[in-house]
Amino acid sequence: LSREQVNQAGHLAIDGVDALDLAKQYGTPLVAYDVTAIRDQIHRFRSVFEQNKVDYAVSYASKAFATIAMYQLIAQEHGHIDVVSGGELYTAMKANFPMQSVSFHGNNKPTAELEMAVDQHVGVIMLDNFHEIKLLSAILAEKSAEINVMLRVTPGISAHTHEYDQTGQEDSKFGFDIKSGQAQDALKQVLAEPRMNMLGVHAHIGSQIFEVNGFVMAANKLVDTVADWHDELGYEPKVINVGGGFGIRYTETDDPIAPEDFVDAIVKAVKVRTTERQLATPEIWIEPGRSIVGPAGYSLYTIGSRKDVPGIKPYVAVDGGMGDNIRPALYQAEYEAVLANNPLAKPVETVRIAGKYCESGDILIQNQPLPETKAGDVIAILDTGAYGYSMASNYNRNPRPAVVFVEKGKAKLVVERESFDDLVRLDKKL
Ligand code: LLP
Repeated sequence: LSREQVNQAGHLAIDGVDALDLAKQYGTPLVAYDVTAIRDQIHRFRSVFEQNKVDYAVSYASKAFATIAMYQLIAQEHGHIDVVSGGELYTAMKANFPMQSVSFHGNNKPTAELEMAVDQHVGVIMLDNFHEIKLLSAILAEKSAEINVMLRVTPGISAHTHEYDQTGQEDSKFGFDIKSGQAQDALKQVLAEPRMNMLGVHAHIGSQIFEVNGFVMAANKLVDTVADWHDELGYEPKVINVGGGFGIRYTETDDPIAPEDFVDAIVKAVKVRTTERQLATPEIWIEPGRSIVGPAGYSLYTIGSRKDVPGIKPYVAVDGGMGDNIRPALYQAEYEAVLANNPLAKPVETVRIAGKYCESGDILIQNQPLPETKAGDVIAILDTGAYGYSMASNYNRNPRPAVVFVEKGKAKLVVERESFDDLVRLDKKL
């Protein structure tokens, strides 16, 4: 937490608004985003591409946090987005997001969703498997439509990260295998499809990655792949997409490199390898999700009950938990929290921050140093902006929290808190 994030009252401030005021006005649990931080992060990813004068796209992987306001924000920044479902695509439509800047991903896109993507003229469909090539071909023929496509490949690189997040290794449910020749067979099929415009190749090697090595290896592999295609089939690639996965700092043990350094390494690798392989430098696309919204997000909770047993680390319970942030329970993800009314206070104890859900595993933070706290105090868990709200559930029939965007001293509600009526809206009586 930096000093600027503490206001004159000594409280946590989120882009110029007192966190206690946010909690009072909108209630807790509340997800608050520092919009300036989101914009800055996008600009940081962009800056190195601009300096290097390469054509590029920063495509926000919207699974990290997808709402109408978020898509509007990316549109304001002239960014691209990835969507992975009809629901994300529909939300982007409701935000009037420019469809030519949408990439549609997924390992099993249903027919109806592919039709929707074709009707909306999305910028590119990321083809994942042979079934999908056939399906899309039939849809395009039926609609007399054309569309840009890219092939997602499995480059055989597994970034060192949590095992749930490994998607680049050969044994992955995503994409065409390169080594066995699958990817080249897929290319031949696509080149034979007059309604498909083959833009290039995509790989995603994992998530929450801290070093550049994996990206450099993936970039080299992708360049080699398209260079082979060029040599053997005369194919001219327009885009190389190295995916997302840029790590962020959740706790003091995390030490990721800066967005600029990731991009720099990727651009250099692509330039060097394409020169070696005598290929024109294609556009370079990246797909950051977590790193765009993660550090900008705060989860505000009100402290309620407390359990103290001699010799056991105390439980301090808050009014949210695994329903609004499943990551600690699902991935043993770690976070840090501060007391909103005195974020810089000296800790006097180490506690567990427990949620309100009926499950022993509903612990948001296992080891949180805190100053003295009492019921009614507000705590802020930091860096919760990615895969928190977007993975939220109604477990135990808890309504999902409200979401506010805060920018330069002004707060705006962008997702209403769910009501009990929302919870039963789809239920039918016997
Ligand atoms: N592109 C593709 C094709 C992806 O599959 C993903 C994430 C991304 C980009 C964005 O990755 P990021 O920059 O956000 O790391 N629920 C997990 C993360 C799952 C990521 C899945 N794919 C979590 O909470 O850690």
